[in-house]
Parts: sequence; C-alpha cells; structure tokens
Amino acid sequence: EGKAKIIYEGPEKGTAIQHFKDDATAFNNQKRSTVEGKGVLNNRISEHILSNLNQIGIKTHLIKRLNMREQLVRLVEILPVEFIVRNIATGSMTKRLGIPDGTILSKPLIEYSYKNDDLGDPLIAREHILEFKWVKDEKALNFINDSCLRINDFMQGMFRGVGIKLVDFKLEFGIANIEGKENILLADEISPDTCRLWDVASEKKLDKDRFRKDLGNIIQGYQEVARRLGIIHEEANISEVKFGKPKAVNIKNK
Ligand code: TMP
Repeated sequence: EGKAKIIYEGPEKGTAIQHFKDDATAFNNQKRSTVEGKGVLNNRISEHILSNLNQIGIKTHLIKRLNMREQLVRLVEILPVEFIVRNIATGSMTKRLGIPDGTILSKPLIEYSYKNDDLGDPLIAREHILEFKWVKDEKALNFINDSCLRINDFMQGMFRGVGIKLVDFKLEFGIANIEGKENILLADEISPDTCRLWDVASEKKLDKDRFRKDLGNIIQGYQEVARRLGIIHEEANISEVKFGKPKAVNIKNK
C-alpha cells in the first residue's frame, strides 16, 4: 500500500491489480487528507492517457481498467527513480533555483529524483542513476529519456487541444519479464496527482496543487480535466463506490 494506491495480487502470474484510493498526501506525507472521488477520477484519467500512449507505441503496464477504482496491470519491478518533465518552471525547481514562477523553458527539461521517502525523494544526477545501477545501463536510461520526451510531446498536444497547459509531470517506469525478455514499461499513473495542469485562458490550476496550496475545490479541478478529455460527462459518475479488499501480496516474494 502506498500513499494514493494499493497494489493487490493479480489473477494471473505477472499481473497485479492497481487500486486508486481517495487519500491525498503532500510534502512527503506531512499533509494528509481524503478527497472523495479522487481515486475514481484518477483511475479513469490514467487509463485514458496510458491507452492513448500505448496507441503511439509507448509500452505501459496497463492491461485494462476493471472497475471504478481498479486496473489490471502487468506486475513490474519499479525503478527507484522519478522522472520529472518540465515545460514551465514552477514548484520545487523555482524554489530551489530562484527562477521566476511561470518561466517558459526553451525545451523540455528532465529531472530525476531518487524514490526514497526516508530521504525525501532527493534530486539526483544521471551519474548517480548509472553509478548505483538504479537503471541497468546507459542504453536503458537513454531509452527512458527518449520515452519521457515522446510522452511529453504527445501529452502537451492532447492537453493543449482541450485548453490545458501541461506545465510539468512525473513518470515512473518498471521492468517486466515478458516471454523471457526484459521490457521497460511506463507504470504507476498519470493523473492530476502527478501532473501540473493550468487552464490556458485563466491559468487556473486543475491539479493537485489545489490540495498542496489549499486552493479549495480540488475534485472540481480533476472533474474539469476528465470532462475536457471527454472521459466523464456528468458529475454523478464519480459517486462513491465501495469494494471488498482482495489479499495484499508482498511483491518481493513473487
Ligand atoms: P515538484 O515541482 O514538486 O518537484 O513536482 C514536479 C512534478 O512532479 C509535479 O507535476 C508534481 C509531480 N510530483 C509527483 O507526482 N509526486 C511527487 O511526490 C512530487 C514531489 C511531485
């Protein structure tokens, strides 16, 4: 169980069920709350984006959405690196470097952080990733970098088409053994929890910054994203749905 999702044992070897919770956290778990309906929306939005990416040749862990809160995915070994792609400077980068908030970057900028909650996911360099073998080798890291840029191009266009600026986002990748061959798959989720999305006209934030910065109307922002992407048509669709909990599994033992 993580901060926003639970991974359950899947129906077949090599699969898992990814369950989206309504829990929201920020600042490495220091700020916590429940945002009713968030899990349902993130499940739908992430399914939409990953299936579209799959159609342009990006391999992802998604097999299919099962219900309002759950997806069947390939079980992967998550690489301990968060890949952050930025188009506009904001958030931790502006704080760290004193760059004015909202500065448009001349080209997409990729940052890496080491996935380690005890250390607060520190920013790292490419060299750390290679030295400590957090990604197998340079070829694999280059492949992931290229994938990040393709994903950014695609998503920027997709969001721009519905009046949303893709400011920045975070990706996670994992390794899956498919028919004896190691595959690098896009994993985790892509949703307003993991992206910064600003309305083109008003620059209104439609993402988790509404929670991080106490801006209010969090779910309305997520709903707006889903509505513009053509995923939900009525607010009633996100009404609370309860499911029994399948058995949790320790992935390391599989
Ligand atoms: P940052 O500006 O706080 O570093 O965030 C960059 C992007 O990464 C932003 O779109 C939010 C996303 N993100 C996550 O998905 N998970 C995290 O734990 C953090 C810190 C950021």
